[in-house]
Amino acid sequence: MSLLEVINLTVTDKRKNVVIVKNVSFTLERNSCIGIVGESGSGKSMTSKAILGLIHPSLKVTGAAHFDGKDLFQLKSNEIRKIRGKRICMILQDAMSAFDPLSTIGSQMSETLCENLEISKKEAEKISIVELNKMHIKEPVQVLKKYPHQLSGGMLQRCMIAIAIAVKPDIIIADEPTTALDSINQNEVVKEFQRLRSELDTAVIFISHDLGVVQRLAQTVLVMKDGKQVEYGEVKDVFSQPKHEYTRYLVNTRVQLTKSFTEAMRKDHV
Ligand SMILES: Nc1ncnc2c1ncn2[C@@H]1O[C@H](COP(=O)(O)OP(=O)(O)OP(=O)(O)O)[C@@H](O)[C@H]1O
Ligand SMILES: [Mg+2]
Repeated sequence: MSLLEVINLTVTDKRKNVVIVKNVSFTLERNSCIGIVGESGSGKSMTSKAILGLIHPSLKVTGAAHFDGKDLFQLKSNEIRKIRGKRICMILQDAMSAFDPLSTIGSQMSETLCENLEISKKEAEKISIVELNKMHIKEPVQVLKKYPHQLSGGMLQRCMIAIAIAVKPDIIIADEPTTALDSINQNEVVKEFQRLRSELDTAVIFISHDLGVVQRLAQTVLVMKDGKQVEYGEVKDVFSQPKHEYTRYLVNTRVQLTKSFTEAMRKDHV
């Protein structure tokens, strides 16, 4: 049985009677990674937030999301809360919105770790430092004392990833987790996600604009356009023989970008 099976996930805006996401279906196996790609506004964040019941009540979610013998869409809010943050962690696209502006990063990390790992505050602090180190955050002790507004978007993103990894959930949903990072840190974070799979048993839903990163991390990929899933399959098949016109466009654009980059680099070296 798959770890997560999403069947015909559909999100409708009841006020405007608009369908935002239509019939998205995929499976996620234990210790695997699915990449979700697609242009801005195609419904990637909406899909992932809907799975965890993190969307506004005016939006209606239909379909099913089977996890551990339960349909997540049928759970009461107190039941989904027990799964969210503990068994399925989400790294939000907007890192700032994930933190409480009034308390320090350290106290928020400790609180989450104490609650989900049933450990003492002292142990939580130790783990926080270890995980921030893994995210290549220098002076983690100082960072833990800071309030969210005192840190850059990239720092907050890495703190959020550190929390998710420390909780060791069954699934991490990472929504554009590397957008605010420079290429060196992006590379390190991608390596951490690779390590997650090899060392822990965590499965990952990785949302990204970057086909290169998806190619490095994911075994399967889902391509979205205008709220619909236009392609879904093994990464090597989808990228080498894209069936849908939009996927071909994405792949070709990437090839073009890589070519121009390589050419520009060559020029610099002449
Ligand atoms: N709360 C909301 N109510 C109604 N529509 C919304 C809401 N939030 C987002 N949308 C719409 O849903 C669609 C999908 O948005 P979503 O944020 O999922 O896109 P995305 O693929 O994650 O884009 P990006 O790559 O920019 O993050 C967009 O048309 C957006 O305007
Ligand atoms: Mg998004």
